[in-house]
Amino acid sequence: MSEGLQQTHERRVLGTELLWAFGVGVLVTATLSLIVFTALTRGINPPSNVERVDPKTLHLSGEFAEQNLGTVVAADGIVTARIIATQFMFAPHCIALPQGQPVTLRFASPDVIHGILITGTNVNTMVVPGYVAQVHTEFARGGELLMPCHEYCGLGHSEMWANVQVLSAGEFKPDRDGRLTCAQR
Ligand code: CUA
Repeated sequence: MSEGLQQTHERRVLGTELLWAFGVGVLVTATLSLIVFTALTRGINPPSNVERVDPKTLHLSGEFAEQNLGTVVAADGIVTARIIATQFMFAPHCIALPQGQPVTLRFASPDVIHGILITGTNVNTMVVPGYVAQVHTEFARGGELLMPCHEYCGLGHSEMWANVQVLSAGEFKPDRDGRLTCAQR
């Protein structure tokens, strides 16, 4: 190849490279902007609640003690459900939650890593021992939903699931302490 031809060739290669770099730059910028935009305006983000809890004592006292598990409606109307995920069950085995109202779900594990999702909703998180897994959501529809463990946690993993009863405003009636358990059906 003559020197002139080679220079033209190299210039063309450089042009192509810059074009690709520009395209990738646009894609990366668009993706990052979308992530920041949806996080700020729609509250869409990965569960990233860094809140520690001692897995050795969480069932003895504090918010994950047995009497505090399940759904509770605070005096200001805020609905929170506390659930322990443990080999190979959830405690409680069923939680009642209201339809069309913001709810907060808080999970903790005393043993190994579990994962939970609620079928047909955007609720999906890992439950890592030592941390409280927290999810905010709002159920659009009522009915009985399945909440299986979706992280292999041992031989009984496939037997580990719970139910979520999403109740209408008429059915969602907490007692005087603001507590509510699943309706027997
Ligand atoms: Cu718990 Cu799988």
